[in-house]
Formats: sequence, structure tokens, C-alpha cells
Amino acid sequence: MSSGWSWYVIALVVFNLAGCTWLLWWTAKRRPGDPRPEDTSHYWDGDITEFNKPMPRWWILGFYIAIAFGVAYLFWFGGLGGYQGMGRWSSQGEHAQAKAAADARLEQTFAAYKGQPLPALAGNPQARELGRSIFANTCATCHGSSAQGATGYPNLSDDIWHWGGAPERVLETVVDGREGVMPPWGTVLTGMGGPNAVDYVSAYVRSLSNPEAMRNNFLAAQGKPLYEGVCVACHGIEGKGNPELGAPDLTDGYWMYGGSSEAIRESIANGRKGSMPAHGELLGETRARLVAAYVWSLSNRKGNGAAPRAGSH
Ligand code: HEC
Ligand code: HEC
Repeated sequence: MSSGWSWYVIALVVFNLAGCTWLLWWTAKRRPGDPRPEDTSHYWDGDITEFNKPMPRWWILGFYIAIAFGVAYLFWFGGLGGYQGMGRWSSQGEHAQAKAAADARLEQTFAAYKGQPLPALAGNPQARELGRSIFANTCATCHGSSAQGATGYPNLSDDIWHWGGAPERVLETVVDGREGVMPPWGTVLTGMGGPNAVDYVSAYVRSLSNPEAMRNNFLAAQGKPLYEGVCVACHGIEGKGNPELGAPDLTDGYWMYGGSSEAIRESIANGRKGSMPAHGELLGETRARLVAAYVWSLSNRKGNGAAPRAGSH
């Protein structure tokens, strides 16, 4: 508040308070010229007339006390323009205090899990429940409420990991985020293998998860050398992928961007760019650990009491 406004508000408040006090004082006493109450012949409720002053003492006293309370209140909480008040109360201050208390409570809830390894957390039902609720709040918008994923957002409930499924890899993914970059290869491939090169490579890529389809597959056979010329650098000679780059295993039949011929063709010709945002700062160390443990537990069910599933790569 600028000091001009501040003085204006102060003047208004002081004028109001002084006015109330004066009015009270002015009307409380009988004055020499006042007619006697009986002379007016106006009666209400039996005994109330005009000019029957002074008003009851308790009523006047109550009014003065209220004014005194108002003045004290203004000085303590700072209702006078820009004046801060002797109590130094502010809504920001109160909020900061409440937030500090809530943070401390939260800290206490999670303190027991601080620094614990993911498999230990995954095996602890309370920790898993906390992780599940963090997941619902923070991750479900992208990965789905049951972590099943969607086109462009990986399924986290299976045991397929583009960035590695070891506990420390999953934690790293959550804390630091991941950027998957599949460059566009359309132009490069047509330059190497002619106008149908992308179709050849697509057919070959599709055959990787379905070896039956490779037999007598003219398109795929054309695509193989192109794949070996370009794609092996990231996806490997057998198409098993590379978790350092987030390059997916092309042999497992799981397609983050869809498994139709068009979707695969689109991935190859125009590239893909998946971005998993870093969550370390948002969640803090222990909550990131809890949610990572929850995600890890979905594909490592031993700790869950469910049947163990095939290992991850
Ligand atoms: C520079 C490394 C690199 C090269 C070279 C590369 N890829 Fe990729 N590829 C990736 C990465 C990383 C992803 C994952 C992109 C993402 O997560 O958004 C990917 C994704 C894909 C996908 C989508 C998979 C899915 O689950 O939907 C297909 C299909 C694919 N690549 C095929 C190929 C083919 C065919 C070639 C060769 C023409 C190739 N890639 C070359 C790194 C590469
Ligand atoms: C804004 C959307 C978004 C949010 C929010 C998000 N993710 Fe992701 N996440 C992605 C995308 C996209 C990828 C795929 C990155 C790539 O292209 O490889 C991914 C990848 C991952 C992976 C790697 C999967 C693999 O196959 O290796 C894990 C683990 C993961 N997310 C966990 C989480 C957790 C836990 C949270 C919540 C704390 C979360 N994500 C929040 C979009 C999101």
C-alpha cells in the first residue's frame, strides 16, 4: 500500500472511531433544553419514550468497551493503513507457519522410509500404499491410474523397461527424468534404399517380434540390411534395445507408440521424442523413493506376496 493510501485509510478509521465516541457521549446525557419524557406523549412498549435519557449505564459502558476493544484490535493486528501491528500478524506469516507444520508432519510420516532400498520398501505394505497414493497424485495423469500407460506413455505395470528395471535405474528415472530421442529416418532411409525403404524397414522391425512373419517375407528381407546399416547403433543387432539411451527392445511385441503398421512406420520415418519429467525436486528424496518402489513392485511381485514374474532386462 502506498503511503498516501495508508494515511487515507488511517484517517477514515480514526474519524469513524472518534465519531462513534463523540456520538455516544453527546447522546448519553440530558441537556437543559430537552423536553421531559412525559411531555412527548409518544410511548412504546409501555415505558420507552423520547428523551428518556440517560441510557442505562450497562449499555453505554458496553459501547465504550467495544470501542476500546476495536482500538486495541487495530493496534495489535494492524488494521490502520500500512501499519503492521504490534502482534506482527500477517496472513502470509500464518500460512508459512501452517505450511512448516504440515511439512514437518509429512517429514515425520516419511522419516521411517528415508534412504531405504527400493526392494525393502516394495516389500513393506504401508510403504507401498504411500507410494501408490503418491503415484495417483503425481504420475497417474500420464501413466494411468493403474500404471497401464497409453500411447506415448509407457506401461509401468509390465516387466518391460526402456530405461532399465533395476531398482536404482527406476529411481534415477523418477528423480532425474528421461528424454527418449528417436531421430527421424525417413530421408536417410529413402536415400539408401529407394522410395519404399521405410516400408522395408518397418516390415523387418515387425518381424522381429514375430519370427514367423520373417519367413518368405520379401519386404522384411529388403529391410534387414537397412536396419543393420542404421538402427543397430541404438536398437542392437538383435533388436534388443539399449537402456542407456532408452532405445526400446523391438523384439518384445510391446509398442509404446502403437503396434500398427502405420504407427511403426511413423516412428521410423518421423522419429519420436518421449519426455519423462524429472520429479526429484517436486517430491523430495524420500517420496521419490516411495513412488519408485511402488512402480518397481508392480513388476517385481515377490515382495507383494503374488507370484514372481519373469525377470526384466
Ligand atoms: C540414435 C539412436 C537410435 C537410432 C539410430 C534408431 N532409434 Fe529407434 N528409437 C530410439 C529411441 C531412444 C526410441 C524411443 C523414443 C522415445 O522413447 O520416445 C526409439 C523408438 C523406436 C520405435 C518405437 C518403439 C515403440 O515402442 O513404439 C521404433 C519402431 C524404432 N525406434 C525403430 C527404429 C528403426 C527401424 C531404426 C533404424 C532406421 C531406429 N529406430 C534407429 C533410438 C534410436
Ligand atoms: C508429463 C507426463 C509424465 C508424468 C507426470 C510422469 N511420467 Fe513417467 N514417463 C513419461 C513418458 C513420456 C515416459 C517415456 C519416456 C521415453 O520416451 O522413454 C515416461 C517414462 C517413465 C519410466 C521409464 C519406463 C521404462 O520403460 O523404463 C518410469 C519408471 C516412469 N516414467 C515413472 C514415473 C513416475 C513414478 C511418475 C510420477 C512420479 C511419472 N513417471 C510421471 C511421462 C510422464
